[in-house]
Amino acid sequence: MLYRLFSSLSLKTPASLFRCIVHAMKPQVLFVLGGPGAGKGTQCAKIVEKYGYTHLSAGDLLRAERGRPGSQYGELIESYIRDGKIVPVKITISLLERAMDETMKENSEKNKFLIDGFPRNEDNLQGWNTNMDGKAEVKFVLFFDCSNEVCINRCLERGKSSGRSDDNKESLEKRIKTFLESTRPIIEQYQKVGKVRTVDASKSLDEVFAEVQKIFDKEG
Ligand code: C5P
Ligand code: MG
Repeated sequence: MLYRLFSSLSLKTPASLFRCIVHAMKPQVLFVLGGPGAGKGTQCAKIVEKYGYTHLSAGDLLRAERGRPGSQYGELIESYIRDGKIVPVKITISLLERAMDETMKENSEKNKFLIDGFPRNEDNLQGWNTNMDGKAEVKFVLFFDCSNEVCINRCLERGKSSGRSDDNKESLEKRIKTFLESTRPIIEQYQKVGKVRTVDASKSLDEVFAEVQKIFDKEG
């Protein structure tokens, strides 16, 4: 009887319906990349408001883990962050995977994620592929593009009130270097397969969001 019901829904078999449902519920992921201070977090907050994504910032998750009493990784994370280096993916991927699971456990319809600040290097990308292949679908990379100068000035300005141990000149130089040497090549890999959507991030917050909306209205 169930089979007849599925057939009448013009689906071939219950198995194909099952595959359809699993696919629909599979986490849909957008990676959000850009230099430090490019506006990733700010724009993600606006995307969440308008398009119903869940925002997961790798940096925020690492900072929370750094401050969690009893964390065995607290000191390691702090030293990586201060030096603008990328924390080993084993740590980051477990935080991301847990956050995704918790979000979907709470509400199984919340399966659209903005993963901000990841994958930032080859180790991040391999960790994602090893752990998440088949479990989540990466739709595209949203790339907030702006000059190093804009990045540095914005972070120094933010540093006046952010309390972040890496919004200072010395750390910023290292973060920019990491971005150019390690993150840029990852963006280029996605570019080669047509999976990057680039936004000029040097403009004002509203102008940048206007560009973002054009992308999301079409394919978000
Ligand atoms: O993205 P955000 O600027 O918050 O990242 C701050 C720092 O967190 C990075 O400079 C890096 O040290 C660390 N991080 C990381 N791996 C990521 C994202 C952030 O090690 N995937
Ligand atoms: Mg951020």
